[in-house]
Amino acid sequence: MQRIYTADELRATLKTHNNIAFVPTMGNLHDGHIALVSIARQHAQCVVASIFVNPLQFGPNEDLANYPRTLEADCKRLEDAGADIVFIPSVLEMYPDFDGEQLHQTMTITAPPIASELCGASRPGHFSGVATVVMKLFNLVMPQVAIFGKKDFQQVFVIKELVRQFNLPIQIIAGDTVREPSGLAMSSRNGYLTPAQKAEAAQLHQCLVNIVNQIKQGNTNFADLSQSASEALVQKGWLVDYISVRAAHTLQPATNQDSQLVVLIAAKLGNTRLIDNIDFCAK
Ligand code: PAJ
Repeated sequence: MQRIYTADELRATLKTHNNIAFVPTMGNLHDGHIALVSIARQHAQCVVASIFVNPLQFGPNEDLANYPRTLEADCKRLEDAGADIVFIPSVLEMYPDFDGEQLHQTMTITAPPIASELCGASRPGHFSGVATVVMKLFNLVMPQVAIFGKKDFQQVFVIKELVRQFNLPIQIIAGDTVREPSGLAMSSRNGYLTPAQKAEAAQLHQCLVNIVNQIKQGNTNFADLSQSASEALVQKGWLVDYISVRAAHTLQPATNQDSQLVVLIAAKLGNTRLIDNIDFCAK
């Protein structure tokens, strides 16, 4: 596996390839990321991954500085999973106008209004930062296929909109969420949890499963379902950001007419913000 650090070298190396599958990441790789690389391996001759902790998608009080960085272990995992190239740009390589604190003169993508709901409501600018970095990475890698995890369901939605609205010739594939045996969705941020919190964190998935089961049994009072699930989590010490039932293909609030639904949740355990979701057919 080749490690590439600059945009020029990446372009020169990929110039002769026209069959590329791409998996962007922020590193600290776990089985969820590796599952996406395996999907990529099935779709193209050349698999490119990237590792870049994107400052543009972190809010001022978020964990940019503490985000776990485990480059050597990540490269080993990518190589074992069959990646051909890993792109590891510096912040200055991606954002030449970055002065360490502010992104002066940096052009960004304005995300659609849906990006201000759900996770976007408590993370203003987050999806603009994601869309901007993914657009830049797409422009450098020029893949035919790119793989994202359903774990970040709203992110997949925003990326699909990016591709549709900017006419990018890229197929977006959404990989299933990989979970711990407890049901806890794998996440780089799980590493912030104490052992006791990690045990409690499995409740997040359980809460989603309960809501899905009740909807499948015919309960379509989505607001009530979300409200009582939220109250139960608060009782257990969680700070709930949102629980919401949405139409899976539009992310608009679910109605009785929708059959493909997604239940999404974001909640904090101590200082750690966790997200999860389940998409399913209600009818
Ligand atoms: P990161 O959090 O590192 O995730 C990289 C990819 O792995 C994303 O597509 C994410 O949805 C997926 N992923 C994370 N946990 C997963 C799990 N348990 N199962 C399956 N897939 C999982 O998401 C980002 O980085 C960034 O926003 C990025 C797209 C790289 C832009 O900076």
